[in-house]
Amino acid sequence: MSTLKEAPGGRASSSPLMGGEVEPTIFEFSHSGRRTGTIRNSRVEQVDPKDFLPVEFLRSEKVDLPEVSERDLVAHFMRLTHRQYAVDLGSYPLGSCTMKYNPKLADAVASNANLSGVHPQTPPSGAQGWIELCVELERYLTEITGMAAATLAPAAGAQGELTGLLIMKAYHKDRGNHKTTILIPDSAHGTNPASVTLAGYKVVTVPSDERGLVDLEKLRALVNDEVAGIMLTNPNTVGLFEKDIAEIAKAIHDVDGLLYYDGANLNAIVGVARPGDMGFDIVHSNLHKTFATPHGGGGPGSGPVAVAERLTRFLPGPYPVVVDGVGSWITPEKSIGRVHSFYGNAVVYARALAFMKALGAEGLKEMSEVAVLNANYLKAKIADYYPAAYDETCMHEFVVTVAGLKKNYGVRALDVAKTLLDRGYHAPTVYFPLIVEEALMIEPTETESKATLDCLAEILIDIAIEATNEESSEALKHGPNRTPVSRVDEARAARVLVTTMDAKG
Ligand SMILES: Cc1ncc(COP(=O)(O)O)c(C=O)c1O
Repeated sequence: MSTLKEAPGGRASSSPLMGGEVEPTIFEFSHSGRRTGTIRNSRVEQVDPKDFLPVEFLRSEKVDLPEVSERDLVAHFMRLTHRQYAVDLGSYPLGSCTMKYNPKLADAVASNANLSGVHPQTPPSGAQGWIELCVELERYLTEITGMAAATLAPAAGAQGELTGLLIMKAYHKDRGNHKTTILIPDSAHGTNPASVTLAGYKVVTVPSDERGLVDLEKLRALVNDEVAGIMLTNPNTVGLFEKDIAEIAKAIHDVDGLLYYDGANLNAIVGVARPGDMGFDIVHSNLHKTFATPHGGGGPGSGPVAVAERLTRFLPGPYPVVVDGVGSWITPEKSIGRVHSFYGNAVVYARALAFMKALGAEGLKEMSEVAVLNANYLKAKIADYYPAAYDETCMHEFVVTVAGLKKNYGVRALDVAKTLLDRGYHAPTVYFPLIVEEALMIEPTETESKATLDCLAEILIDIAIEATNEESSEALKHGPNRTPVSRVDEARAARVLVTTMDAKG
């Protein structure tokens, strides 16, 4: 450790690329009586909670809150921000997550006071603009997905899955069908089987074949009258287009099953192909991936669910409509009920619509085309060092295997990913999908330039070369060394969860 005197919390380690000690918590800057700015001579009356809250709900002890000046508070959070990697800082090729740059234009629209100032309890007469916005966004989404109608309400992709499955269940109940199982490919995202279980169905796994696609013959063997439907995504979770989708749809529809499209991969196909045209009946899309809201850590998400005509009456309420120029909320005839308080995470809707309108139909198509182009470019650039798990033209992402480096030099996918953090890029997804040994799943997205992709490829290749040298390969196994926190014991972190500073020692 350095012996030089350093400012408290202001060490060089506040750079995202440098190692350092644990950042002090805000409590460590606390001094009794210190305050941030207050409005003097305010005419707001000080109220005593005892005047309006029952005494049994009041605390008897003072809350231990940090007492800091505004200056210290801002500096503390700025330092933390600078230690964090973010989509706004650089490339974030985290496969399956579509971590792309989100244009600030969408934020500007969403924070317009005419939208953000409307309280969710405002009656429809005072929220006509919002209702119109919701209806217009629904129209764009149904056009993009090839569906008849959509609910915007689910708060995320996983909740969209559950909503879609409950719609599927309501459909089967309405038809008097006895259905117990849902088919899911073995490459599926973990939320798929979890949602199936929550919806009260059993999961039946469909194996992938050597092409990385659904094994059509094995799927046919698993289809029977008990099958309520299949959940899959196209392009699938290894970044390949399911070429047999028409046959898959036929096999499922023949037993009155439904096809659920996990829209996590929508970024690959907007304006080029539509789930509805492929035979899907229900589609969720992650607005917080494809349409201008960051996935994870960026605030609330939104996972609208679009459905085919015969399923619209099961959609959750409240559902926005505009009739004769007047907007209102209705509940569809056989609605599965509410899935979110009020009208969902509306700020995400505003961002998505702003983004869609800014790009227009041609721009959205180009977005997906460039996402696919970027993935294929990067895949080809690193192919000699990182063989693709399935050597096909990929869609918006691809999976490579590090099994060779592991076998010959003991360097694993995790080591490559951690070292990438040291070189200024976010790591790709590792060990997913489970069907690929030592998997790195890379999704560069359309927002990265050729120069960025070239640099990323060069760094990945450097790491592969370093892996072949005894001395440098040892260093790879201990990285990252230049991030604020080095390698953590992830299994222990998950199993021995410490949520307070007091417990850290
Ligand atoms: C393929 C796939 N399905 C579903 C989800 C779940 O979406 P969410 O994180 O919004 O719940 C994700 C998230 O990354 C995903 O990649």
